[in-house]
Amino acid sequence: MKITVFNGSPKANRGSTHVIISALLEGMEKAGASTENILLAQKKIGHCIGCFTCWTKTPGKCILKDDMEGLLKKYMASDIVILASPLYVDHVTGIMKDFMDRSLPLVCPQFEMGDAGQTRHVSRYGKYPSIVWVSNCGFPEKDQFAVLQLACERDIRNNKADIIAQIYRSQGPLLTSDSPEFELILSRYKELLRQAGAEIVLKRKISANLQAELDKLLIPEDEYSKGANESW
Ligand SMILES: Cc1cc2nc3c(=O)[nH]c(=O)nc-3n(C[C@H](O)[C@H](O)[C@H](O)COP(=O)(O)O)c2cc1C
Repeated sequence: MKITVFNGSPKANRGSTHVIISALLEGMEKAGASTENILLAQKKIGHCIGCFTCWTKTPGKCILKDDMEGLLKKYMASDIVILASPLYVDHVTGIMKDFMDRSLPLVCPQFEMGDAGQTRHVSRYGKYPSIVWVSNCGFPEKDQFAVLQLACERDIRNNKADIIAQIYRSQGPLLTSDSPEFELILSRYKELLRQAGAEIVLKRKISANLQAELDKLLIPEDEYSKGANESW
């Protein structure tokens, strides 16, 4: 099984997203998957210019010459794609949004009616990778991800891909804390992520019990907010 991560954090391998991805991939590799971890911040990805050349003159191919063509090849060659982005203003980062916009060549311009009674684009390919969504954010509550989650689920309907798992981590900056008081909490969370990685490979989902553990706050909300305020 081939799994490719597209991480849209501007902090690349210094961010909390990277901490989540690293543990997840450890579990996936141990379960037998071959993985590639792509840091989009290190790639050249221009903004979509809205010309629709990828739908008209060169079907499936973007007019811009940068790293996206190679990245979309890797995307389509994957069994599972992990889209990972920190929460920025309730949504994905600009880097991830550019990546998503530039994925337009993967579908055709024509409209069709989808299963959910909503218009979507016709597929360009017979099969698309399954998706795992990963995000982390600075605020403590899980419902901070409400907008991102809805947008991601809607976006995916075009690609006919199934979202097989979603990992949303509030209190994300704790993951890059080097304070000894969080060491045990973080090592326990990373172990849950390793288990989630293995489950995604072996069962193509995260079991309800494990998901409930992953969703728990790392530390109480008021303690987290107090510490965050003191850190500024
Ligand atoms: C421009 C910007 C916008 C942000 N917007 C939000 C937000 O809407 N909600 C939130 O909880 N955290 C927000 N954050 C905090 C990040 O999600 C948080 O710091 C996260 O841990 C960064 O992940 P990374 O280290 O992988 O880049 C924002 C941070 C930045 C820089």
